[in-house]
Amino acid sequence: MEPTEFIWMDGKFFPWMEANVHVLTHTLHYGAGAFEGIRCYNTNKGTAVFRLKEHIERLFYSCDAIQMKLPYTVQEYCEATLELLRKNKLQQGYIRPLCFFGYGVMGLNPLKATVQSMIACWPWGAYLPHEMVDIKTSSYIRIHPDSTVSDAKLCGHYVNSILAANELRGTKYHEALLLDSEGHIAEGPGENLFIVKEGKLYTPKIGTILPGITRDTIMQIAKEKKIEIIETRLVVSDIYEADEAFYTGTAAEVTPIKSLDDKVIGSGEVGSVTESLKKAYLDIVTGKRSEYEHFLSYLS
Ligand SMILES: Cc1ncc(COP(=O)(O)O)c(C=O)c1O
Repeated sequence: MEPTEFIWMDGKFFPWMEANVHVLTHTLHYGAGAFEGIRCYNTNKGTAVFRLKEHIERLFYSCDAIQMKLPYTVQEYCEATLELLRKNKLQQGYIRPLCFFGYGVMGLNPLKATVQSMIACWPWGAYLPHEMVDIKTSSYIRIHPDSTVSDAKLCGHYVNSILAANELRGTKYHEALLLDSEGHIAEGPGENLFIVKEGKLYTPKIGTILPGITRDTIMQIAKEKKIEIIETRLVVSDIYEADEAFYTGTAAEVTPIKSLDDKVIGSGEVGSVTESLKKAYLDIVTGKRSEYEHFLSYLS
């Protein structure tokens, strides 16, 4: 990670190395915190943040799931993000807001702990830096919706993602695919999945997944392109037999999938539907599509 100059924390800008917390910070012990991953892009009108308000609104939804009352409004977090980017002169990269229970109490009732929040940003290129990825079904299942609020982006959920990703470290696979407890496709450790079959787009329905903002953007683009979208239950064989498959996420953007469990999907090349959705997505985030301008928050 390449540091920038400042980190915003609890209303103030701190030099990167001075945005620190106590080791007895509540969230550090129990995982009850919420975060976001947002990207900003260089456009011909300067730097723009993609779907900033929706990300901050999802942050509020996640905090609400753990009864964390945030001390600032959606607009104040959005403004703090834009000001941070200006101060750091970051043209293109990744933005990480995190809300957490701070120092002061221990035990399983965090509600008396102070609520803290921070926003950092840094340059970050492709998360899955391959033209296409080889993925593998994980032996871990995705967090169960009856065990947690699985559509919230909570810190503790990411132990599940880390276990799935760790399992593949040192192998030839680039990313994992997690199933739910009934054997249906859920998602990647940090990505949503789509497949293309006979020109139609299929994706796992909401339930055990994080409803991705990139997923929503891709569905809007597909609608505009008159591609039929089917949100349904998918199983592993649906992917083996698909014509195309791809992952979506703020970090992963649109990443075409070459194979699952060593079974090559379709021709093994980037398919035409994936290609056109990916191109449209990259055009939108970089401000080349005026009809999607409302998704962009410019710094000036
Ligand atoms: C588990 C999980 N699924 C899906 C996504 C994709 O979500 P988004 O497109 O909002 O980044 C992410 C990334 O935040 C994630 O962590």
